[in-house]
Amino acid sequence: MTDSENYDVLIIGSGAAGLSLALQLPAHYRCAVLSKAHMAAGSTFWAQGGMAAVLHDRDSFDAHEADTVDAGAGLCHEPAVQFCVSQSRSVVDWLIDQGVAFDYRADQPDAEFREFHLTMEGGHSHRRIVHAADRTGRAISDVLTQNAAAAANISLLPDCYAVDLIRVDGRCVGAHVLDTQSHSVKTIAARAVVLATGGASKAYQYTSNPDGASGDGIAIAWRAGCRVANMEFNQFHPTCLYHPKAKSFLITEALRGEGARLLLPNGEAFMTRFDPRGELAPRDIVARAIDHEMKRLGLDCVYLDITHRSPEFLRSHFPTVYERCLSLGIDICKDRIPVVPAAHYTCGGVVVDQFGASDLPGLYVIGETACSGLHGANRMASNSLLECFVYAASAARHIADTDLPAPKKLPEWDDSRVRVSDEGVIIPYHWQALRRLMWDYVGIVRSDRRLAFAANAIELMQVEIANYYSQFLITRPLLELRNLAEVAALTVRCAAARQESRGLHFNRDYPDAKPHAQDSILIPRDHPAFQNPQSEDLQLPSYSTQVSGRKS
Ligand code: FAD
Ligand code: SIN
Repeated sequence: MTDSENYDVLIIGSGAAGLSLALQLPAHYRCAVLSKAHMAAGSTFWAQGGMAAVLHDRDSFDAHEADTVDAGAGLCHEPAVQFCVSQSRSVVDWLIDQGVAFDYRADQPDAEFREFHLTMEGGHSHRRIVHAADRTGRAISDVLTQNAAAAANISLLPDCYAVDLIRVDGRCVGAHVLDTQSHSVKTIAARAVVLATGGASKAYQYTSNPDGASGDGIAIAWRAGCRVANMEFNQFHPTCLYHPKAKSFLITEALRGEGARLLLPNGEAFMTRFDPRGELAPRDIVARAIDHEMKRLGLDCVYLDITHRSPEFLRSHFPTVYERCLSLGIDICKDRIPVVPAAHYTCGGVVVDQFGASDLPGLYVIGETACSGLHGANRMASNSLLECFVYAASAARHIADTDLPAPKKLPEWDDSRVRVSDEGVIIPYHWQALRRLMWDYVGIVRSDRRLAFAANAIELMQVEIANYYSQFLITRPLLELRNLAEVAALTVRCAAARQESRGLHFNRDYPDAKPHAQDSILIPRDHPAFQNPQSEDLQLPSYSTQVSGRKS
């Protein structure tokens, strides 16, 4: 093993969560930050609206907490909510120290007294979103990547795909990593490992997410024996651009925050029929209302109208949306924008505590990969970036304060019994079939029958994928498909176990919420809490669906 494959901390993922953790570790900790593609390949770069933070005199922690809990439909863990909200101001200060340029109000030229321009999004009772026009993610990603590249203790490793974690004596001590340029697998040892691999929205045919959002970290942690929770709460963003040439382009919720209305083709506004908060109701409600109207009227899309705002305002606040739409022949200053809901955010994930520590000693999980309890059954807009930074800082402090054992010599990857595939067609076939299945059967509106069908179909796919995996050399498409099928199975299991409708999970067979909110927690077979001997004979990783004792 060479020295470069031995670190104090191995961070898998170079988005907001992974990079900010690396930058907050003590300078004498040697760490590697991996990305399976280029360093800005995750969702962070694409974040538009901004980050929620209590910054205005008339706003308060109590109000931000109450809005988060309300959007979360009874499932938020209040300590997690309080923890995140209380850190929001210090996160903004840290980002400014790093060099992130947020927007200030244009009507306050005196630099000494100027205030942030705070925008508004669904579920928030105050203007509380700090942003850099509608390119907030890019502003953050560029600065953090530059700073990490300049730090002597941080190695940035693009094109390095984490395949699986390595466990020795019940501890996570490293990972096997595919170099997607040289096609070789290396063994990386570390005293602590962090999964910050983003979400799993690519499990759906239509998504706002970039290509790599295949739920790798959730699948990897599950295979390593960690509990996974609340996967049924996949968030659909109400407004993605509907255009044959626009793959995955989001129309930020901040547009509705600044007055955009949702309209049917005949110009009728419909949101107040569903919720008195209209366009600024929480996202689950808006996405379901659009889905309802599209199905009722047989529409391909609905429309978002912001033409009442001045062109100067729209061009300065929403340059990304303005330019992208214009490039497709839609002038948002004059034209209505065709929009549809699309999979956007994974509220569930790997169960972690306040430090991002998972069930597996030595393994931390942060950002969209984790289930910290902040989002409950529906994430409130712009709370995701906040969660990434809060838990990254908390995990960095915990790692620095913990006496971590030195890395050991680890088992090398063995590919002596596999060969180059001659059955490549299997991967794109299953990739498309799985995402279509999830969209049609496990989408915005579900039923027991559809979930049962999806469970069976995914199980068959997993058997075929496992078979392929055991015979052929690994590639990025194969690894992504294997992980996508794993998270799809976990999503369906959680959805089938929840016999109620709550937040983002709507099942026609149980249209009401139960009086008590409970998490759905999946426990892998080799976890100490696993209690389901009957599933020993299953071919796939077995699970038991147990609910936590917590009631809200
Ligand atoms: P990501 O930023 O997704 O990064 C994941 C990283 O993991 C990438 O570097 C990827 O290459 C790497 N990776 C994945 N798997 C592997 C593997 N197996 N091996 C090695 N590397 C791997 N949230 C807000 O709060 N405000 C917003 O305005 C907002 N706007 C959004 C707009 C869009 C279009 C999208 C898609 C999301 C938006 N979100 C927003 C959500 C938010 O951007 C994400 O939840 C957040 O950025 C996730 O950050 P992360 O660090 O957890 O993961
Ligand atoms: C958006 O800008 O609409 C996305 C915000 C978010 O996902 O939090």
